[in-house]
Formats: sequence, structure tokens, C-alpha cells
Amino acid sequence: MEPTEKIIRQAEQLHDGELAKEIESLVKVYGSDRSALIPVLQQIQKKYKFISSFAQQEVAKLLDIHPVEVYGVITFYSFLSSEPKGKYIIRLCRTIICDLAGKEEVEKAITKEIKIKVGETTKDNKFTLEYTNCLGMCDLGPAMMINNKIYTKLTPEKAVSIIRDLDKSD
Ligand code: FES
Repeated sequence: MEPTEKIIRQAEQLHDGELAKEIESLVKVYGSDRSALIPVLQQIQKKYKFISSFAQQEVAKLLDIHPVEVYGVITFYSFLSSEPKGKYIIRLCRTIICDLAGKEEVEKAITKEIKIKVGETTKDNKFTLEYTNCLGMCDLGPAMMINNKIYTKLTPEKAVSIIRDLDKSD
């Protein structure tokens, strides 16, 4: 093994060790039965912005659930992810009312601005763009959510301006 590879591997092992301890603490808080699965995954997601395959294995082991089931839950819920995501997760509503209100044009403007497609993350890990279903703001569409904040009555210009402001604020 090359020296650099060795250092990277050691860092990963150190990180995995810390993560395993954190997951153990979460299980102490939420319990070790099946009902703890979502809250434990939510906490991991909140801290790391994704749930690595190591974390999935650890959760499965501690809750005595098959890892495939853990993975299934992660892929089912849009707020959980098995892949690293950007600092800002843009979720654009794709449900019919926002669609009719001009979501397509807003999407085009966003993808042009941050140069990624829906489902991707920018190279600098700043933005991830995803679709979401109805955000409950149908009379104020098109709507999107960035992290926990909802933005309504979007126009292509307004969406780009929101993204530029976030970009500048870092
Ligand atoms: S359809 Fe988009 S918020 Fe309801």
C-alpha cells in the first residue's frame, strides 16, 4: 500500500471508529428496537448530510435489522440519503400545481446557474438539486425548499437571486 493510501485508510478507520461510537450513543437515546430506526438515521443525516454504508451497517447491527432494510428506508424517504449532499439542498416541487405554475422555467434557470442536473451535487459540494412532492404551498407556487426554508412564488430570476445570495453568504 502506498504511504498516501495508508494515511487515507487510517483516517477513514479513525472516522469509522468515532461514527460507530456516535451511533451507539444514539441507540442509547432512541432505544434498540425497530422504532428507533428513523430517528437514528435522521440524526446521522443531520450531522453528516448522508448515511454512509459503514453507518448503515452499524445501525443494522445495533438494531438487529438487515442492512438491506436500512438501505430501503433511506432510499424511500427523500430527507435521508446514502450519498454525500451539498451544503444547500434545493428541493423543487414537481407536483402538478407547481408544474403548471412554471416550475419548468424555474428548473431551467437553476440548472443553468449551478450547472448541474436534478439529482446531482455541484463539485464544490455547495448545492444539491432534487425534486420533491407537494410542499403544501400550492396556491403560492412554484415552490422550493432549501434546507429547511421554503420559497414561494418563484420566477426564474427570483430562484437565481436566492441561490446567488446563498452562494455569496459563505
Ligand atoms: S404542488 Fe407544489 S407546493 Fe403543492
